[in-house]
Order: sequence, then C-alpha cells, then structure tokens
Amino acid sequence: MARPMTIPDAYQDGPSPDPSRKRAGDPEAPLADRLARAITLAGPISIAHYMAAANGEYYATRDPLGAGGDFTTSPEISQMFGELIGLWCADLWDRAGRPDVAWVELGPGRGTLAADALRAMAKAGLAPAVHFVETSPVLRAAQAERVTGATWHEGVATLPDDLPLIVVANEFFDALPIRQLVRTASGWSERLVACQDTLFLPIAGKPVPDTLLPDTLVDAAPGSIIETSPASVGVMRDLAARIVAQGGAMLAIDYGYEGPAIGDTLQAMRAHRFVNPFEAPGEHDLTAHVDFATLLAAATVSGARGYGPVDQRAVLERLGIAARAAALAAAAPDRAGSIAADRERLVETMGSLFKAIAIAAPGWPEPEGFA
Ligand SMILES: C[S@@+](CC[C@H](N)C(=O)[O-])C[C@H]1O[C@@H](n2cnc3c(N)ncnc32)[C@H](O)[C@@H]1O
Repeated sequence: MARPMTIPDAYQDGPSPDPSRKRAGDPEAPLADRLARAITLAGPISIAHYMAAANGEYYATRDPLGAGGDFTTSPEISQMFGELIGLWCADLWDRAGRPDVAWVELGPGRGTLAADALRAMAKAGLAPAVHFVETSPVLRAAQAERVTGATWHEGVATLPDDLPLIVVANEFFDALPIRQLVRTASGWSERLVACQDTLFLPIAGKPVPDTLLPDTLVDAAPGSIIETSPASVGVMRDLAARIVAQGGAMLAIDYGYEGPAIGDTLQAMRAHRFVNPFEAPGEHDLTAHVDFATLLAAATVSGARGYGPVDQRAVLERLGIAARAAALAAAAPDRAGSIAADRERLVETMGSLFKAIAIAAPGWPEPEGFA
C-alpha cells in the first residue's frame, strides 16, 4: 500500500507571498484566464456573453480614445461635432416650447461631446439637468473633469421619470453585445465561443428553429451569419417607452445597416488596427455594426416616431457644419487648415460610413437634419 509522502519541513509554509500569481478562479486573474476556466467548467458561451465580458473589462480598465489609444470618435476629432449636436437638441427644445428637460448621453466616453454640446446649448438658452449612462469608472472620472454637476447611471432604468428626456448616443450601440446565428449544413445554430488550451474560437452550438429566422434569410448558404442585439433593442425599447410617456427625443449616431441581413460584423480594434476578436478578450474594443431598422422598429412599436437612417454627412451639413467651420476659421485664421481637414474627415471620410437615426415623442416637433 502506498504510504503518504512525508513533506519536508521546508515545504510546510503558508501560501507563496508572490502577489503576481493569479489563479483563473481568482476575480483578479486576467479575463482570458477567467473565461477559459468558465468555458472549461461549464461549456462554450454565447457571443453575447463573450462580448459583454470583454467590453466590460476593456472599458472598466482604460480610456481607449484618441491618437494614443485604440480608436478615435467624431467628438474627439473636432468640437464642431458636439456643438452641432447641442444645437440639434436646443432647436428641438425651443420648438417644443422650452420645457424643463433632462439631457442624457449614453456612453459619453471622455465627456468631450457633452462639454461641446452643453456649451452650444447654453448659448441657445438651454441649461438642462445632465445625466450620463456609463459603466466605466475610468471614463466616469474623465467625464467629471469636463462636465460638472452630472448624475451617473449604470443603465437607463434609473433616469429621471418626471421630465422630458433629450437623449444623445454616439458610438454607444455598437459596443453592446450581439448574438450570432450561423447556418450549418443541417440548419441554423447559435454561434458560441469555445476554448482550446488558451485559444478562443467560434463554433456552431445548439440548433435554433427556422421559425426564429426572417423568411427572406432562412435559406441562406452554409456559413452565413445573422446578428441580433437583444441588449440594444432592450435599451431602445425602454428609452422609447420613456420618451413616449415623458416627452422628448433621441439622436443616435453609429455605423451600421438596415437589417436583418447576412454578415459577420464582429470586429476588434487595437492601436487603430483591426485585430482578431477572439484573441486577448478585454484588451481591445469589440464592436458590431448596428441594425438601424431593428432599433427604429423597437422604438416605433413603443409609440415613438422614427427618423432615418441618414448619413452623418447629410445631418452635419443640414445642421450647418460649413458655417460653423467658417466661423471657427475666421476666429483663428492660423488654424484654418486643420479646421478644414477636421470638417473633411467628419463629412467625407466618416460621413457615409456613419449614420444617424432619431426618435421623438408624439406631439414633439420633427427633429432637424432628417428632412
Ligand atoms: C466607443 S465609446 C464612445 C464614446 C463617446 N460616445 C464618443 O463618441 O467619443 C463607448 C462608450 O460607451 C460606454 N459603454 C460601453 N458599454 C456600455 C454599457 N453596457 N453601458 C453603459 N455604457 C457603456 C463606454 O464606457 C464608452 O463611454
């Protein structure tokens, strides 16, 4: 019979004092280790679970914006972007009879858009209560440096329920989790994330009934992928119901399409380059194209009026970006070249890639920029 080994005295100490060694079950272990352990113990996870975990970690631990970060957004390119959005809000508020309103931004990043928009709104006589929906503590701190007196929320449920809401969202919906369905030789399945050693990889999971698929897409070729974002639809549905009940409007700008459609749009950005979304979860920005048609349908089902999508270019031009660029250049002639280049980037380079949608409460005026 084997005897228990005698452990020499030298090896009977307590745990190693090395604080850098984190086990996968430790909440402080790297996300990739925690996800790998969860998948090994309980099986593959949905794309939505993977994306929520990766982006939760990513945004909680850094400010990813700007030239030194992973990507740049329109408000970080020029003050004109936020200012014109501020004028869009002020114009709507003015034509609605100048009621008390709460101004809400979803995912405000560094707070740059909010600072520019609030400055423009103040010039038009609008000084609303400011509410930010933001989960990242790092970005909340950055927002507090640029905007004083804001109230922060984890989600839309705690937003004020006694005032009209004027809501703005730039590149927010593209960061919310998506589900993917993949067509296999035997039918449609939920796409899942498995883990082999330390490598994550997408696989086809349990079959889903064809009745869940749009009629026009059900016979797509094997390998086809359809995306849905229940998280985005949930946010839109909740906000639209609030706007219908309380009054107000919403402007959302993102890149996307009018679905449902075939296509795998899950992508990851690091240091301004595309990288593999299944490598190093939590270390890069994961996004998916936004299905504007489905978002607008979610809003109109709740009783809101829907507008768009229209190109960012058209909205910025209708809101007066040419006049604003000319005024800025006249005030700072030495910067005229860079102001023109920034305008060109917002209107030409990003102008057709990014699109805007709006919703408004019944009885509120038509939003500017969508005619
Ligand atoms: C791509 S950044 C856009 C930042 C900013 N709107 C801009 O245009 O510069 C996405 C923003 O949404 C926030 N965010 C991502 N997922 C979120 C979630 N589930 N709930 C609330 N905020 C979220 C991020 O922390 C970040 O502020």
